[in-house]
Amino acid sequence: MERGKEEAPGKVGLIGLGAYTPDRIMTNEEWTRHVDTSDEWIRSRTGIERRRIAAEDQTTVDLAEQAALRALEDAGLPIDEIDEIIVATDTPEVYIPDTSAFLQHRLQAPNVSAFDLAGSGCAGFLQALDVARSRVLGGRQHVLVVGVELLTRLMNWKDRNTCVLFGDAAGAAVVARSSSAVEILSATAGTDGSKADVLALEMGGTRTPFSEEGARLDLHHDIVMKGREVFKEAVRRMSQAAREVLEQAGETLDRVSLVVPHQANRRIIDAVARVLGLASDKVFMNVQEFGNTGSASIPLALVQARDAGRVRTGDLVLLTSFGAGFHWGATLLQF
Ligand code: ACO
Repeated sequence: MERGKEEAPGKVGLIGLGAYTPDRIMTNEEWTRHVDTSDEWIRSRTGIERRRIAAEDQTTVDLAEQAALRALEDAGLPIDEIDEIIVATDTPEVYIPDTSAFLQHRLQAPNVSAFDLAGSGCAGFLQALDVARSRVLGGRQHVLVVGVELLTRLMNWKDRNTCVLFGDAAGAAVVARSSSAVEILSATAGTDGSKADVLALEMGGTRTPFSEEGARLDLHHDIVMKGREVFKEAVRRMSQAAREVLEQAGETLDRVSLVVPHQANRRIIDAVARVLGLASDKVFMNVQEFGNTGSASIPLALVQARDAGRVRTGDLVLLTSFGAGFHWGATLLQF
């Protein structure tokens, strides 16, 4: 992304974007060797054909670092111009401290403040982007935002209800005030904590601390998920958030060039498009290639949409996401 020299007050947005996916590709066919499933079941229920799996020696910070470096390069910015780092992840490097501490050290950005936004599932990146925007409005110069997930390391490889859905990836953005920024026109977010138990990884918290019995039963890998309820709410909330963010900006959907939804499932994406009355060529989809990459899904899809020439200068692009919590959010960008 080219950076203009002249600073335009009030235009806060993305000045760099980057994404990273591990090399190893795992097909649906390969899953049939681990659980009782089929390529046909996975494709027809989710649209997923393959996903990326991190190498055994890679951890969350390795993925985050690659995406961050690419976003910095895209912004044409050295790391020493970053003055805050925010990481959105549900699959942290370790339990304590958070992943942002590891990333700050890895990027050699001493004394730069850093923190994680954890546990908001796939909505994490849009929450972090919104926080980054407010930090820049509050005086920070350049905030690095990373969405990273190494879900295949923590999920239960024996649970066919969940394991076939996920993949590993990282995406990043640099948020700043600049005349050439992809402007964040508006952002919205919401939470329904009454649904906290519908999609959860419980073991390890104070409610269900680690125990010998839990370890024996492999409970620390168990993602609780009521799939149909998640599906229904994801469609409802992502479309609702999309409408809200447009209204906030005084814009209408027919002026939007591309919608980039969270990539959980082709059927969820198709249903959101139907509810909003969107033609399929206005909706970006890469879930077939990468599966559900949690908080990395939106930045990864955005980078791919841009690199594929799906967005041009001046275009309105709408991001909308939904995840555990339930949390959801939407962001309207102008390229
Ligand atoms: N292979 C074969 N069969 C399977 C598999 C599998 N991988 N997984 C589940 N099944 C079986 C179940 O055991 C069940 O069998 P039963 O009827 O004998 O009990 C049956 O398939 C369930 O079938 P359906 O109810 O028809 O499945 P459905 O059409 O609801 O699809 C799915 C399930 C894909 C999970 C769907 O509900 C969904 O996409 N929900 C959203 C979940 C999601 O995206 N979660 C990710 C995190 S949240 C987010 O990112 C938004």
